[in-house]
Amino acid sequence: MTLRRRLVLSIVALVVAVSAVIGAGSIIALASIQTGAIDGQLQKATARASTKFGQGEQSPNGQRPNDDLLQPLGQAAGTLTAYYFSGGRAGGIVLQEDSSRGQLTAAQLDRLGDVKVGVDPATMDLGGELGKYRVAAVQVDNPVLGDAVLVVGLPLAPVYESVWKLLGVVLVVTVLALLVASAVATAAVRRALRPLDRVAETASTVARMPLDRSDALDGVRVPDADPATEVGRVGTAFNRMLGHIGNAMQARERSEQKVRQFVADASHELRTPLASIRGYAELTRRMGADLPPDVVYAMSRVESESVRMTSMVEDLLLLARLDEGREIQFADVDLTGLVLDAVNDAHAASPDHPIEVDLPAEPVEVVGDAARLHQVIVNLVTNARTHTPDGTRITVGIAPCQDGGVDLTVRDDGQGIAPEFLPKLFERFARADSSRSRTAGSTGLGLAIVDAVVQAHGGRVSVTSEPGDTVFTVHLPDRAALVDGDGDGDGAGAGAGAWDAVPERS
Ligand SMILES: Nc1ncnc2c1ncn2[C@@H]1O[C@H](COP(=O)(O)OP(=O)(O)OP(=O)(O)O)[C@@H](O)[C@H]1O
Ligand SMILES: [Mg+2]
Repeated sequence: MTLRRRLVLSIVALVVAVSAVIGAGSIIALASIQTGAIDGQLQKATARASTKFGQGEQSPNGQRPNDDLLQPLGQAAGTLTAYYFSGGRAGGIVLQEDSSRGQLTAAQLDRLGDVKVGVDPATMDLGGELGKYRVAAVQVDNPVLGDAVLVVGLPLAPVYESVWKLLGVVLVVTVLALLVASAVATAAVRRALRPLDRVAETASTVARMPLDRSDALDGVRVPDADPATEVGRVGTAFNRMLGHIGNAMQARERSEQKVRQFVADASHELRTPLASIRGYAELTRRMGADLPPDVVYAMSRVESESVRMTSMVEDLLLLARLDEGREIQFADVDLTGLVLDAVNDAHAASPDHPIEVDLPAEPVEVVGDAARLHQVIVNLVTNARTHTPDGTRITVGIAPCQDGGVDLTVRDDGQGIAPEFLPKLFERFARADSSRSRTAGSTGLGLAIVDAVVQAHGGRVSVTSEPGDTVFTVHLPDRAALVDGDGDGDGAGAGAGAWDAVPERS
């Protein structure tokens, strides 16, 4: 149950409880006050009746006391008087609303006979039309008729009537109070909890945010941060937490930046000594005639390994610069031409691999960096050549996509890539068979560069592989998508700075 509903229900329950207590108290008080008033009247009525009865006038028929003897002037409507002579004779009458007199039944007389003389008034249910009565008994000596006990009673109906009326009023007032209380409580609770909603909203906004940039949380704050209120304290703590996260992200980005800078500087610095090593090795090879064959072999190894290391250092430098968002120079690029160049080069390099192209009739143009895109195609085609046996058929294709972008595919029917290796394929220095690859001069940076370059272009590279069919697909986005935003966000790190350089297409 929501906090809001719980609060409203608690307030409503409280109103019901308070109304019930107040209502019950009022009803009990009213009943006892009215009963007290009736007892007062009963005392007077009893006094009047006993005075009159004590006067001793003879009844006209001699059988029973005169009605006037029992009901003197001044008695209220509903008053009953019963007499009980010691000999057993008894009788009684009730004064009706219309001043006529009704006789009490034998059963009623029987019940009234139980009333004791000299005790406080009691409540008695006489049944029939009479209902409940307050009754009191008194001993009277009539000089003519003899000793008798007089029982006088007053009806409790007025008391019950006012109790019922009050109960009705209490119920109506309670229902009204309930309606008003629930409306007011709902509005007040909603108003009080609105800042909490804003905190929750901010929290879910942050949860949905891609936190790949250190300034992602800048300006994201909960507006309700007044420490005087409970919700404000939550807001303050939340804002402080966002601040800490932002700082941590900035610190992380700074340290990543340092590492990138270090790799870029180191690779850059390594180029010069490597060039010297290569130069001297080459020089030595040229003078090979004067040197023993062992030394010639050793120097040729030095030369070839320095060539390999130079290319590795170049790759590392390129990756570091792509990470920084530099290195990409956008221009209109003829992708078809790049593919044809790369395929021709590959054909010349390994004639044992039949290579086919699958290109649209019209030349395909994209926006990007020609040199880097050329490198992407070369890396993929080289992989298809070097990691497959001779005779493996390679197909390079270009196909326009529905979203306006272009798909570049490099397919081969070689042995395929092990499924457990696929998730790591684009990581740096990842090789499926490291022992064999190393001797073949592979470093495992080729696909990492492909991935980084494609991401810097706002695109993505994917692979599917099974024995006999391995397909690398490079998706390059439409120019509009490239300029508008960061696509699915994963290319943001490398591409963010570069997109400013996207040229206007004429
Ligand atoms: N077409 C392919 N068929 C089979 N395996 C492949 C194919 N392409 C890549 N691989 C596997 O993926 C690994 C990683 O490729 P990647 O291009 O990143 O590195 P590399 O080719 O080993 O070295 P580099 O390209 O840096 O010289 C390769 O070592 C190879 O095992
Ligand atoms: Mg490779």
